Amino acid sequence: MKVDVLTLFPEMFDGVFGTSILGKAQTKGLVSLNAVNFRNYATNKHNTVDDTPYGGGGGMVLKPDPIFAAVEDILNQREEVTMPTMKAPRIILMCPQGETFTQQKAEELVQEDHLIFICGHYEGYDERIREFLVTDELSIGDYVLTGGELPAMVAIDSVVRLIPGVLGNETSAVTDSFSTGLLEYPHYTRPPEFRGMKVPDVLLSGHHLNIDAWRREQSLLRTLERRPDMLENAELTDKERLWLEE
Ligand code: ADE
Repeated sequence: MKVDVLTLFPEMFDGVFGTSILGKAQTKGLVSLNAVNFRNYATNKHNTVDDTPYGGGGGMVLKPDPIFAAVEDILNQREEVTMPTMKAPRIILMCPQGETFTQQKAEELVQEDHLIFICGHYEGYDERIREFLVTDELSIGDYVLTGGELPAMVAIDSVVRLIPGVLGNETSAVTDSFSTGLLEYPHYTRPPEFRGMKVPDVLLSGHHLNIDAWRREQSLLRTLERRPDMLENAELTDKERLWLEE
């Protein structure tokens, strides 16, 4: 998978793209992550990327030309080096008015070959970017940040970790909260007793059927307590539904 990010602050991505699991994913050749400064595509002599809004009012608006030119440059480079069978990229605008990003969206995006994220830092984007360039608009939640960089990092992290081979333990993405439709059960490791706080006996029993049953029950209870809204869409047996209703 190839991921390009258009931003005025490419240095913000250095740590995230170069460290830990995302860094290793690149070294393993599973993903190529690239931050591009779209100021380099400004066409005027002061390299401005924003301007005042037509019709007046406060704030600045990101101009369409540098962003279109940056995306077109990425598309042209791609034609030179990639197979004709590669799917058209998803061009994703990060903004508070976008569709809310979810695990389901991450699972959809990991099926793609190429993602291009656009991050703004100003009052808004020229509407022609929305209308004629982007394929998706994504928000990471109902709050406003100073720019789209942190939201893009959140989305990229959650997509890249789903690429097969990125996580060391293949099962860990499968048992994630949200992938299963339920919150995760509690985890414990050594020591079996710490300052009088004990690990549940069943986990030390070595009895795998009982352990699986306990974990499932804990997942159900935890979801009921913290995120009852998730139970509606979770895959539950009739017996489990009855048990939760008790
Ligand atoms: N830009 C500013 N706030 C944002 C949010 N919540 N999600 C995505 N992009 C943003």
